[in-house]
This record gives sequence, structure tokens and C-alpha cells, in this order.
Amino acid sequence: MKPGRILSGMRPTGRLHLGNHVGALENWVRLQDEGWANFHMVADWHMLTTGHEDTSRLQSDTYEMVVDWLAAGLDPKRSVIFVQSAVKEHAELHLLFSMLVTKARLERVPTLKEQIRDLHLDEQTISYGHLGYSVLQAADILLYKATHVPVGEDQVPHVELTREIARRFNFLYCRDREPVFPEPEAQLTQFPRLRGNDGNRMSKSAGNALMLAASPEEITAYVRAAYTDPKKARANDPGRPEPDERDGHGGCVVWEYHRKFNPEGAAEIARQCRAGELGCVPDKQHLARVLSEALAPIRERRQRWAADPDAVRDVVADGNRRARAVAERTMDDVRAAMGLRSTAEVTP
Ligand code: TRP
Repeated sequence: MKPGRILSGMRPTGRLHLGNHVGALENWVRLQDEGWANFHMVADWHMLTTGHEDTSRLQSDTYEMVVDWLAAGLDPKRSVIFVQSAVKEHAELHLLFSMLVTKARLERVPTLKEQIRDLHLDEQTISYGHLGYSVLQAADILLYKATHVPVGEDQVPHVELTREIARRFNFLYCRDREPVFPEPEAQLTQFPRLRGNDGNRMSKSAGNALMLAASPEEITAYVRAAYTDPKKARANDPGRPEPDERDGHGGCVVWEYHRKFNPEGAAEIARQCRAGELGCVPDKQHLARVLSEALAPIRERRQRWAADPDAVRDVVADGNRRARAVAERTMDDVRAAMGLRSTAEVTP
């Protein structure tokens, strides 16, 4: 595929875990290395949609997340790393886009419905800003005229809405000119989201997360505590590493990690496990070594960046500048297409 332009974002949640890496970050770094134009945004305004009362952690969570991005291998020379709230054009485009989408359409966005369910919210108490979450995301993406959005499955409805808004804008305002916006595509990550050591979706709040910059000792303890096949009680009982063939459920997390981080050795480990030749204890010790080695470069890069907060600040200041330059150009196109003024001048 010919490289295009990428915009991706994460809400600032502080230090990242391995699930964030496998689900997203790893993909960003690969696209960067393939020569795509990369914009990576800390979505701090999005964070307010579900938590506007307590903003005390916003700054430090942003900082820690950016350090993890750099640790994972984002290169500030090749990738633009910036903060949403530092580029005010996001707010302007969000406002203009908010005219192009109905309230009913936003109420049908599946992620909003899921949040209402998961956070036990009352539909009547959803804020205007929260309802507009996906409109803000469309503004994020289209402000950079991104052609591709590397996201997980859960974000696909937002990219779909983004395409609808781009189409609507081009249709309404670009009849006699070049379309302003591309219709961006979601680019799904290849590896399904990594589960935590308890077999559930990895998340900080669930308490089953392995942090990206974990020490070898923390990695060993985490892997030791992993759930394995409950029917494999003794070392030489045969185990079942793979998920159920019919419904894809179950399966051993330790094996899943082997497949991800030890792809060459994984088939032989599965064979030995199934044959009852490999106990869970040595299997886990092996995995802990593999993981610790795989994450060593990330750990080392994190140490280097964390030792130099000024350098991190400079990366973001530079990224903000570069993002702003693109955003300003897009808004010139938007205002011209819509017949809005770019200056305060009033003319007859
Ligand atoms: N909604 C995304 C999430 O929860 C974060 C996000 C905000 C984003 N703006 C974006 C992702 C633009 C991709 C593109 O993870």
C-alpha cells in the first residue's frame, strides 16, 4: 500500500500497558518506519467528555503517556507528536462539523451506548460535549486530511462517522471546487487485542495490566500469576493451549503471549504442552525471559527520555508547532469553501 497520512490519538491515561502497545502503539511505530506521514495526538479534550470535574491528572498523564510513546519507538523527527488542546483549530472545526450531524445520529453511535452501559450513566445526564465525542474525533482526523486512521475495532464507528461528515462537507461546500477532505479509512491492527494474565481484556482499571516499562522482576511475577488450562493440574497432564475451535473462547494466555512474542518457538511449545511434555512452571519461566528481552529496548528508551523532561517538553512543543501549521492551512480551505472570513474584516 502506498503510504498516506496517518492521524491517531489516545486519551491521556498516564503510563501505558502492554495491551496499548500491542493494540495500537506497535502499529504506529511500524507505519512510521514504513514512511507514512504520522500525526500522533494526545486527546486531552476527549478526556473531559467522561471526566471534566477532576482535571488534576491531565498534565502528568499526558507527560507520562508521551514518554511511553517515545519509549515504544516513535521518533519525533519522523512523527509529529502533539496535544489536542494546543491546536485550537480542533475546536473550530468541531463547531463547524457539529452543524453537519444530527443529534439522532450521534445517539446511535455504538461507543456512546457502550459507555452509557459500562459507566452506568443515565442517558438524560449525558453532556452536550460527551454526545459530540465522535464529532470532535472527526475534526481531529480531518484537520490533518488524514487518509488512514490506525485504530482498534471499537473505534471503527467513529471513523465511519468521520467519512460521513467529510462527504457531507464536500457535497455542501465544494461543488465548484476541489473537495477539501479525503474520506479516511480505519486501519485495523493485525494482532487482536492482548488479554491480561487473568484472561480478560487488559486494562488499568481491571487491575490486570502489565505496564510497558515493567522491570524483569515485575514481568516474572506477572507471568507467574497467569491463568493457564485449569485441567492441566500436574506438569505432565496434557494441556490445551489453543482457544476452542468452535467459538474461539478460552485458550491459554501464556500460549497467546508466546505466539505474539516468540512466534518461531510457539508451535513447538504448543506441541509439548498438548503432549504433556511441558509443565506450566517452566513454560512461564521461559515466557518471562522472552518478554523481558522483547521489552528491554522499550525499558531502556523510557529511562533515557524520563531522565530528560526538558527534551520531552521540546518534542511536544515542536510537534504542536508542526501540527498547528497543517491545521491552519486546512482551516483556510474550510473557511474559503464555506464562505467564512479568515480575518476580522467586514466587507460589503
Ligand atoms: N477515541 C479514541 C479512543 O478512545 C481516541 C481518539 C481521539 C482518536 N481522537 C482520535 C483516535 C482521532 C484516532 C483518531 O481511543
